[in-house]
Parts: sequence; C-alpha cells; structure tokens
Amino acid sequence: MPKNDLVLVEIKDRVALLTLNRPEAMNALNSALMLELMDTLEELDRDDSLGCFVLTGSAKAFAAGADIKEMAEASSIDMLLKDHIGPFDRITRIGKPIIAAVSGWCLGGGNELAMSCDMILAAEGAKFGQPEINLGVMPGAGGTQRLTRAVGKAIAMEMVLNNRTLSAAEALQYGLVNKVVPDERYMEDALALAAEIAARAPLALRMGKQAVNRALETHLADGIAEERHAFYFLFSSEDQKEGMRAFSEKRKPDWKGK
Ligand code: CAA
Repeated sequence: MPKNDLVLVEIKDRVALLTLNRPEAMNALNSALMLELMDTLEELDRDDSLGCFVLTGSAKAFAAGADIKEMAEASSIDMLLKDHIGPFDRITRIGKPIIAAVSGWCLGGGNELAMSCDMILAAEGAKFGQPEINLGVMPGAGGTQRLTRAVGKAIAMEMVLNNRTLSAAEALQYGLVNKVVPDERYMEDALALAAEIAARAPLALRMGKQAVNRALETHLADGIAEERHAFYFLFSSEDQKEGMRAFSEKRKPDWKGK
C-alpha cells in the first residue's frame, strides 16, 4: 500500500475507511494526496474481502478544494502536461461503492471528489460550494457537470458563478446529498451505512453502481440496453441462484461474490 500518510486507512470487517490527512491545509487536494488516494482505492478495490468504502476528511473540512498554492504559478501547458486534474478520473473506475462522509468545508475539488463518490452522507454543519470564481477560474474536476446533474441548472449557476454555498439541509433539499445527520454522528452513521451495503451481493452491487452511473453519461435507450445485459449477466452468478432460492426457502442468503 502506498504510504505517505496523506490518506489513512482503517479496515473493519468488509468496510475500508479512508481518511484524507492534510489537516494543516484543510485537506487541500495536492498531487501527492490525490495519487496516494487513487493508488489506495485501486488496491483496496482488488481486495475481495472488502465490500464498501467510506471516504472522509476531518470534522473541520472534508476537503477545501485543489491545492491553490501548488497550482498558483502554473501555466496552461504545465497543467496539461502534468494532467493536474487527471487523477480525479480514477475514482470513477472504482467498482465498489464509495460513501463520502462529509463534515465541515466541502469546496471546489473537495466537492467534486465527494460528487464522484456514490453517496454523500453529510454532517448537519457541512458546507458545500464551488468557490473557484473567487480565484479567477472555474471548476475543473467535474464541478460544472456533476453539480448541474445533481442540483439542476439554477442552483449550479449560483454556486459556480456567484460562490453560493449550500448548507447540509439545502444540499439535501436540492439532491446533492443522501442524508444529513447530527455532527457528532456522521462517522458512525456513514460506517453503519457502509456495513449494511458491504453485506450485500458483491457482483450485483458492482453492476448496479455501474449502471446507475451510466444513466448520467448515456442516452436512455443505450443505458437501458446496458442495464438489460448486466441484469442477464448476473444470472450466471452463484449469488443470483442463492438469492432467489433463499427467498423461496424463507432464509437469509449467503453471498459468495461469485
Ligand atoms: N489550497 C491550499 N491551501 C489551503 C486551501 C486550498 N484549497 N484551503 C485552505 N488552505 C490552507 C490555508 O492557506 C491555511 O494555510 P496557512 O495556515 O498556511 O495559511 C490553512 O489551510 C487553513 O485555512 P484558513 O486559515 O483559510 O482557514 P479558515 O477556517 O479561515 O477558512 C476555508 C477555511 C473557508 C476553507 C478557506 O481556507 C478557503 O476559502 N479555502 C480555499 C477554498 C477554495 O477556494 N477552494 C477551491 C480551490 S480551486 C479548485 O478546487 C479547482 C478545481 O475545480 C479542481
């Protein structure tokens, strides 16, 4: 496992908790942190003993965005050659479900990272925004696209053009997050949700996640065709036989991930 301690990993049963660990910089996402995060996620994704991930920051900040100091003097060519934002894409290829457990600031690239996860559970004091306009730029890691799909054009425009920050309650109202819980409970609740998901049929989880994400990227007919193939494909798994037999036999299924 890559280790600069920019991302801390704790494993409990089938859940891996990944904690962004740059508290001195509000978890600003510099290149080293992003590479460590993506390398770690990819390694954990290959581990069959795990079923679900929780990604979190600190109580003060999930992440305050890309590291402004690291890129302040970069030219366009520097940004292109280093593919500064490239590592953000790697999270979208992770097969297992990822829950973002967000407390405090969730800004810019931090919000874009949270939106690249599959669910967001927010502490009631969490604050969501895309403040890039204050820096003379705009979101560059999916902010204009994923945010607009999540909250709609009206709110996305206010956030991107005028630094509107959403409270956790507003984020829930506009569909950006799944759930808001009291500040002192957000980690416990995120881990409990992850444990519940991690106990489910692994192949169906993987394919269900992929299919829902495809809905944001493809035309309806193509998405439905892909969904149908995935549904039929799952009938070659032992877990489909086990799940359907367990239903008829009125017992709990014993998933094998095969
Ligand atoms: N990059 C680099 N350093 C950052 C940072 C960032 N995004 N956010 C915070 N920090 C650093 C601060 O510079 C400060 O460091 P020093 O102690 O060395 O000065 C430390 O973290 C603590 O921050 P503050 O003193 O500012 O803490 P605060 O409580 O007063 O304010 C905050 C917190 C509102 C989050 C404020 O830090 C802030 O506005 N941060 C910047 C947010 C931002 O603009 N994010 C967008 C980045 S660009 C981007 O993300 C592009 C993209 O789409 C990929």
